[in-house]
Amino acid sequence: MQGWSAGHLIARRDWAPGLATLVVAAEVEPFAPGQFVNLALDIEGVVERRSYSIASPPGKPLEFLVTEVVGGALTPRLLRLRPGDPLLVEPKPQGFFTLKWLPEAPELWLVATGTGLGPFLSILASEEPWQRFERVVLVHGVRDATQLAERERLLRLESERGSRFRLVAALTREQAPGLLHGRITSLLTAGELERVAGTPLAPERSHVMLCGNPAMIEETTALLGARGLRKHRVRTPGHVTFEKYW
Ligand SMILES: Cc1cc2nc3c(=O)[nH]c(=O)nc-3n(C[C@H](O)[C@H](O)[C@H](O)COP(=O)(O)OP(=O)(O)OC[C@H]3O[C@@H](n4cnc5c(N)ncnc54)[C@H](O)[C@@H]3O)c2cc1C
Ligand SMILES: NC(=O)c1ccc[n+]([C@@H]2O[C@H](COP(=O)([O-])OP(=O)(O)OC[C@H]3O[C@@H](n4cnc5c(N)ncnc54)[C@H](OP(=O)(O)O)[C@@H]3O)[C@@H](O)[C@H]2O)c1
Repeated sequence: MQGWSAGHLIARRDWAPGLATLVVAAEVEPFAPGQFVNLALDIEGVVERRSYSIASPPGKPLEFLVTEVVGGALTPRLLRLRPGDPLLVEPKPQGFFTLKWLPEAPELWLVATGTGLGPFLSILASEEPWQRFERVVLVHGVRDATQLAERERLLRLESERGSRFRLVAALTREQAPGLLHGRITSLLTAGELERVAGTPLAPERSHVMLCGNPAMIEETTALLGARGLRKHRVRTPGHVTFEKYW
């Protein structure tokens, strides 16, 4: 189909019902970690397309972390794909949610809800954050522990990177030993994120990237604003960049 790369599913890693990493073979143009592409399926003659962050680093097969929105037009079908099944991939990666557009800062905070983790997996698997930042903190907020996709890999990264990387996971709908309980916003207000990260959030030391649920992004941006961390724009540098998923 014109304008699309004919791809197919190579493999999938299922984390929980309705949550999977899809590994896709398709020809796409070079991308920067943090960018997204459009994926689509031809559903009875109608091409349904949606945007998905690339969760793998450049040079590796394309991966996407996808959650099923019940009743959604595309995700129930995307999550039924089996290895070998076809899907369409728009060859041009898009988006400015990349490290290239960030100002210099000593510490990088990556804050995700749900599948907002995707772009951070790509960023963390590349060399750039480790060359540019003294420390990186990843905060992942999900409903329950089954939603903590790629946790083993992230724990390995934490032991490999030592004090330069801190993983902070928070569950809202259950409690589990070693994990925070509550929404990212409440935990930020209570000082819990900084306590577990072992470093303060402050304009002189932190840049924060937010990804996922738009309400989390709005509320976190307001909380950070009250602490002097402003939205970052190329013309008016600040401390907070974000990617809203809906
Ligand atoms: C730049 C960008 C990158 C994205 N990357 C990813 C990604 O890596 N992984 C991923 O799973 N999704 C991602 N999304 C969301 C994705 O594009 C779709 O919106 C989502 O998969 C729902 O598609 P659907 O056709 O099943 O539902 P639709 O029929 O489009 O959606 C129904 C409604 O559900 C709501 N909705 C959309 N997404 C979600 C969600 N994740 N959780 C709860 N409600 C939602 C919206 O209000 C929407 O109107 C991204 C969105 C953007 C803008
Ligand atoms: N099939 C399944 O079993 C299954 C499982 C999970 C999700 N889903 C579906 O997948 C879609 C996405 O769900 P999701 O859980 O990945 O994403 P989500 O609904 O955005 O929730 C992810 C995390 O963000 C938190 N959150 C929500 N609003 C917030 C805010 N304003 N500030 C701070 N944190 C906030 C949630 O807390 P709260 O818990 O307090 O809302 C949760 O911990 C939904 O359509 C859902 O129905 C399906």
